[in-house]
Amino acid sequence: HESTAPGKLGDPAARGAEVPEPGAVTIVVPTFNESANVRELLHRITETVPGRLPCEVVFVDDSTDDTPEVIDKAAQDCPFPVTVLHRDEPVGGLGGAVVEGIKAATSDWIVVMDGDLQHPPSLVPDLVATGERSAAGLVVASRYIKGGSRAGLAGSYRVAVSRGATWLTKSLFPRRLHGISDPMSGFFAIRRSAVTAEILQPLGYKILLELAVRSRPRRVTEVPFVFQDRYAGESKSTAQEGLRFLRHLVGLRTASPLARMMVFGLIGVTGFLPNLAGLYALTSAGMHYVPAEILANQLGVLWNFFLIEHLCFRERRQYRKGWDRVGRFALLANADLVLRIPLIALFVGEFGMGALPATALALVTTFVLRFVGTEALVYLP
Ligand code: GDD
Ligand code: MN
Repeated sequence: HESTAPGKLGDPAARGAEVPEPGAVTIVVPTFNESANVRELLHRITETVPGRLPCEVVFVDDSTDDTPEVIDKAAQDCPFPVTVLHRDEPVGGLGGAVVEGIKAATSDWIVVMDGDLQHPPSLVPDLVATGERSAAGLVVASRYIKGGSRAGLAGSYRVAVSRGATWLTKSLFPRRLHGISDPMSGFFAIRRSAVTAEILQPLGYKILLELAVRSRPRRVTEVPFVFQDRYAGESKSTAQEGLRFLRHLVGLRTASPLARMMVFGLIGVTGFLPNLAGLYALTSAGMHYVPAEILANQLGVLWNFFLIEHLCFRERRQYRKGWDRVGRFALLANADLVLRIPLIALFVGEFGMGALPATALALVTTFVLRFVGTEALVYLP
């Protein structure tokens, strides 16, 4: 499904030629069932953008309603090209849609904005002008600098969640997000030349975060904006989107094996919770502490398996069946325990180490072996 209306960016047939238009902007709008908003959005873009900056609009649509048809119709009144890329297989959610749109863009500058008018279209030329003036690769429209606000973020619950998520994200990527007060913003301008589309792995809503961390644009600036109320309809975000965001964070943070190992270890540490709870329950029920210990340990192993698989290795599950993965994971975890004592004996007996450093070294050794083993034997073909 694709359509265009004639406009200032020249022959739309030349789109495939990939010749960037200097001093123009491609506005990328992800849409999911926004039929009640897109006409007004195009109307406001028409009023505020082409008079200051040549533009084209690319909708990347995953709708199940008639959004594409409404766009096609409204596009007939637009003095610029309007394209709808409808995806039948919506991989990556909102972020995946935006990357599709970026790949289809022909201008030097790309502005990403929502389709529900929470982002004021009148700011589009300012974002690009600021980027040009400061030779920036990325210009973020921020709710959190002077002049900006989050008026449209309804409810104290959402405000608190948004604050917490912003804080967590900024602490996880202090360097990459330096100078970005609002890494969760869905409104920003980026130079086409600053996007490394091949290495992006978009996952859900936070596409700016993905771009800032993986594409690493050289210079970043911000422009304040007031997050408006939604024009029509409701947010498409769900609780599942929150989980996706956590997976996105872990994915970004564990791009290197060393970082992956640290997350693996951190999750491993949390396993003591179910382990202790299980031990308590079993011994209270009258079981001897040795078998109780062994059983309770399996509970911790299962807990770790579940978290590690979902947070670290979600994309690498396809090589083995579920029971095979649990089995191998549990085998490695128990081998870790069984190996530890003889290893300590070896360090003490053969190398004359003290019991304490020998234990520490054994813990580290079995942990690294377990991590490498899990990567190689559970999550590789
Ligand atoms: N193509 C596509 N696919 N578009 C989607 C999808 C999807 O799976 N999910 C949502 N969208 C579109 C919506 O139709 C809308 O145009 C835009 O993405 C934003 O979706 P909303 O559901 O309105 O998001 P929000 O208002 O809750 O969140 C916005 O503000 C947050 C800051 O509070 C987004 O911009 C977030 O990225 C931002 O963090
Ligand atoms: Mn919205």
